Amino acid sequence: MSKDAIVSQELANKFATEKETPYTRWVRDEGLEIISGHWVPDLRTVDLKPWPRRGGSGVFINHDASRTSNDCYVCEIPPGGELTVQRQLCEEMILVLDGQGSTTVWNDAGARVTFEWKAGSLFAIPLNTRYQHFNGSGQNPARYVAVTNLPPVLNLFEDVDFVFNTSHDFPSRFNGEPDYFSNEGVQKGLLLETNFVADAVNLPLIEAKERGAGGGHIRFSMAKGSMNSHISQFPIGTYKKAHRHGPGAHVIILSGEGFSLMWPEGEEPRRYEWRAGAMIVPPNMWYHQHFNTGSTPARYLAFKHETVSVRNAQGVPKAWISQRIGGDQIDYADESHEVRDMFAKALAEHGLQPAMDTAYESELADLPPKPDQAATPNA
Ligand SMILES: [Fe+2]
Repeated sequence: MSKDAIVSQELANKFATEKETPYTRWVRDEGLEIISGHWVPDLRTVDLKPWPRRGGSGVFINHDASRTSNDCYVCEIPPGGELTVQRQLCEEMILVLDGQGSTTVWNDAGARVTFEWKAGSLFAIPLNTRYQHFNGSGQNPARYVAVTNLPPVLNLFEDVDFVFNTSHDFPSRFNGEPDYFSNEGVQKGLLLETNFVADAVNLPLIEAKERGAGGGHIRFSMAKGSMNSHISQFPIGTYKKAHRHGPGAHVIILSGEGFSLMWPEGEEPRRYEWRAGAMIVPPNMWYHQHFNTGSTPARYLAFKHETVSVRNAQGVPKAWISQRIGGDQIDYADESHEVRDMFAKALAEHGLQPAMDTAYESELADLPPKPDQAATPNA
């Protein structure tokens, strides 16, 4: 039996009035659709509707976390056009999917900064600044995907005018620094503090063996915001370890080709194919695992929110810690053989073979003993 937690209509009716929120009502009032889903095959071609207030077109993509933490939308700027000026008491991270253009950001004190972007650029809007996006092409539309923490803000205040039209500068977030969106950054361990990445598809990464298969990783703190994000890459013929965490991680494929498995505990994995432009949003505490079946490294960007992270007492996300010691990551040594067979078969269709032996072997050095072995050290 499926564990999707669907109950009788009678019980559902008792909660019907609580299903809608100020946030969902706002999206409807904007005249836009909400796609409810955990897999979008291509964000670059997903259908949009006119969005009169913004001067472009858009669609919202919602999931488990959209009531409480973060949401997602895709927006297109018409050729030769610009979106209307906006300010908002929420944070927003943006990945440009198609086209080229520029954005101007300014505050009430009068400081103004303009920067240019193109497909693959990544940036964040500083809290409550005024901003405007311009399409740099007269022929082609420009399209971006954004993740925001608008839902809890709108649900808290229930006042659209307050959220989108309050005069207040947050100088610690943005104070008109001329180099605010320059392509520089400060690297602190895995974390890159920057407000603009010109080309997320080709940004150099840092090795992170904890996630398996020799993957590269980099984490971002952008526009001094509270939402985080990261890029992860894994080589040809490899796949990552399965793990699980809270809802609201938007995994956007930047390059490569492959598939992901996702499944709630105790159920059979479901398979989702992907290539550049696809997005996967793992549901709350579903295991998920990403496989590269293409002839190039595969890279994704994850737009997140702290709600995603279930952390241990040291502050380490449990998705990085072996299930053998109470974490939420399944070691290669503990995965089912069906996973390996499925991967080998998918690679064979492309004339490729798994390149996982090094990853399996190097895992053994740090692998905690199985709980039953730890309890009986002589076994
Ligand atoms: Fe994840």
